[in-house]
Amino acid sequence: MTKAANHETIIVLDFGAQYVQLIVRRVREQHVYSEIRPADTPVEELVAEQPKGIILSGGPSSVYAEGAPRIDPKIFEAGIPILGICYGHQLMAHLLGGEVAPGSQREYGHTSVEVIDPDLLLEGVVSPCQTWMSHGDLVQQVPPGFTNLATSKNTPVAAMADTNRHLYGVQFHPEVQHTPCGPQILHNFLYGACGCTGSWRPAAFIEETVAELRAIIGHDRVLCGISGGVDSAVVASLLDLAVGDQLTAMFIDHGLLRQNEAEQVIATFGPRLGDRFVAINASQQFLQRLQGVTDPEQKRKIIGEAFIRTFEAEAEMLGEFRYIAHGTLYPDIIESGGGATATIKTHHNVGGLPADMKWENLEPLRQLFKDEVRQIAAELGLPEEIVKRQPFPGPGLAVRIIGEVTTERLDLVRAADTILHDELQAAGLTDQIAQSYVAFADLRSVGVMGDERTYAHPVIIRAVTTSDYMTVDWARLPAEVLVRIASRIVNEVGGVNRVLYDITSKPPATIEWE
Ligand code: XMP
Repeated sequence: MTKAANHETIIVLDFGAQYVQLIVRRVREQHVYSEIRPADTPVEELVAEQPKGIILSGGPSSVYAEGAPRIDPKIFEAGIPILGICYGHQLMAHLLGGEVAPGSQREYGHTSVEVIDPDLLLEGVVSPCQTWMSHGDLVQQVPPGFTNLATSKNTPVAAMADTNRHLYGVQFHPEVQHTPCGPQILHNFLYGACGCTGSWRPAAFIEETVAELRAIIGHDRVLCGISGGVDSAVVASLLDLAVGDQLTAMFIDHGLLRQNEAEQVIATFGPRLGDRFVAINASQQFLQRLQGVTDPEQKRKIIGEAFIRTFEAEAEMLGEFRYIAHGTLYPDIIESGGGATATIKTHHNVGGLPADMKWENLEPLRQLFKDEVRQIAAELGLPEEIVKRQPFPGPGLAVRIIGEVTTERLDLVRAADTILHDELQAAGLTDQIAQSYVAFADLRSVGVMGDERTYAHPVIIRAVTTSDYMTVDWARLPAEVLVRIASRIVNEVGGVNRVLYDITSKPPATIEWE
């Protein structure tokens, strides 16, 4: 059973756009369920899914390029409302007899668009409107039956419509923030053209997924690893609702977690799951294996292997399981090229534990984005610290300690990290920052404290803003907040005499130091 079969769904056909996930998010934000399909999905398959509408994404190609992605023009006769964006707009024009001109130069960035005729698509859009363009080719002449709705300095057809057939196109990107009228345009398409009612709510997902999990699992047993992050916490909670006693949730504390994190996980799941929750403290084993290791990739390898060994050994003692549940999200699925498979049960593994494990995989969150998972977590009544928890690397603080990982360094990083987070919270900045942490560097510098010379370690503060974690900017923290953080860390955390603030974006740096 697919989600698309349950909901009124908008299918986004992916022509290789950088923004394809963003289109899905924007549609879901308007309470209409949406999923991505590859551009070459046969028309019959698309029609069989009975979508309320189809969006043709942008893409890097020119409709004239050899091998450029195409769609079967039969799709335009299927009676399904279609909105083409950028390349999708050009492709629609090209296939339906309009004229697409190879652009003499790329148009990129903020572009003012003049509305000629609002028709249905641009209803409520104030002219001129700011839009975001990024294209080489452009539509010069609309296809027969279409009306030109808008124009810009360099783009004769910035938007077009054949309202009788509910076919629409926009040259700009309504899904990006730089197009303030974008939500209105998408709303007009979804509600005006496609007749959606807006019934999709992440909370509705809980009920449906619980029923679906129950049907799949039957009387078998399922094992769920808990990391302390929001994704696995939601998976465990859904399984608890679905199959109750058949669930065992396992938390392995590798000793590389943040301050109080292990205690928090145990306090959250212990009372909820009782003896179906197993917490293993494997800190000593992990630390032993990491002794003397300084290379980041070697650390990752050691931790990954130790994790799997511990997991398997502990699971062995708990009896027979048929399923193992993962907190895989939609971006992971898309990035691994599996966007079109919509079932929540898979037999492949997208990260986490290796695919050759003897259990079958369950990935109930595989259609969701992180912010949707957070909404569901709140709905499930999980504590705020878990609902809002920042992403945290699997190898934990081991990749935030540059050099050998020791108990003393772990304590030092935890203490400094706690100060950072307390101060960001006190300054009301937490919600603006996607990820923030303190890293330890295995080097020493001279300082002076009181009248004494010190020769101690620096710590590095990293705080970044991002919506997708693929590209990030460093957070412009107010100087007075930075001063307070630095002063508290140097005064309160032994062994630190200098605080550095990392002002590198990604790329060229990454979020983590290792
Ligand atoms: P980078 O450092 O590549 O991080 O910019 C991007 C995001 O991924 C997280 N991260 C990891 N997560 N295992 C994980 O599970 C890892 O080895 C790992 N390394 C980085 C990082 O915290 C950020 O959210």
